[in-house]
Amino acid sequence: MTKVSPSMLSADFSRLGEELLRVERAGADWIHIDVMDGMFVPNITVGPLVVKALRPLSRIVFDVHLMIEKPVRYVNAFADAGADILTVHTEAEGEIREAIKAIKDRGLRAGISLNPGTPFSAVEKYLDEVDVLLVMTVQPGFGGQSFREEGLPKITAAGRYAEECNPGLEISVDGGINRETGRRCAEAGATVLAAGSYLFRMDDMASEIALWKTFGKD
Ligand code: DX5
Ligand code: ZN
Repeated sequence: MTKVSPSMLSADFSRLGEELLRVERAGADWIHIDVMDGMFVPNITVGPLVVKALRPLSRIVFDVHLMIEKPVRYVNAFADAGADILTVHTEAEGEIREAIKAIKDRGLRAGISLNPGTPFSAVEKYLDEVDVLLVMTVQPGFGGQSFREEGLPKITAAGRYAEECNPGLEISVDGGINRETGRRCAEAGATVLAAGSYLFRMDDMASEIALWKTFGKD
């Protein structure tokens, strides 16, 4: 079944704890937490303190997406705060392999992400070391943008790679995911759908998530 990871970027930030519980009750598999540093992307969101504050409320998988430069600097802080998955960007400054190793050394699942303009070949060299590939289908920084088609062939390529070399690899897609784009990504081989604005707009988030879990190759 396809997993669903609602993005807290579209939650009501004045009630983050309640929003987390709403997402969990709606049947989400993971919760996607977007960390932005105002450098790698022009926006600033939350850091380890917020992850730590939310952690005691739920045991749901915290899928933390680091849109920050030199991510190795913050691996320990996010691990201490209770992240389960830490995803770094291949375009970020700093030694990315070192960051992946630091994440794994802390016993967390590691992810690598790539922007719409970055070719699949830029992440291929990391795919035997990571647990998650996060394919961006918008330019990172803001929620509510339209899905960019460049991600689809990357999902297909990643699916092929996973089949041959790393069957446990989760292929996640993030940006502009709605019922239609989510279905197309899952059919192309995505195993996780991260979505913010579309899911949080739903009065009945649970039914939408239940439907998305049925999307897939077969
Ligand atoms: C964008 C973030 C996404 C964002 C997606 O930089 O990485 O996780 O929340 O939002 P939507 O689903 O609205 O495109
Ligand atoms: Zn994200």
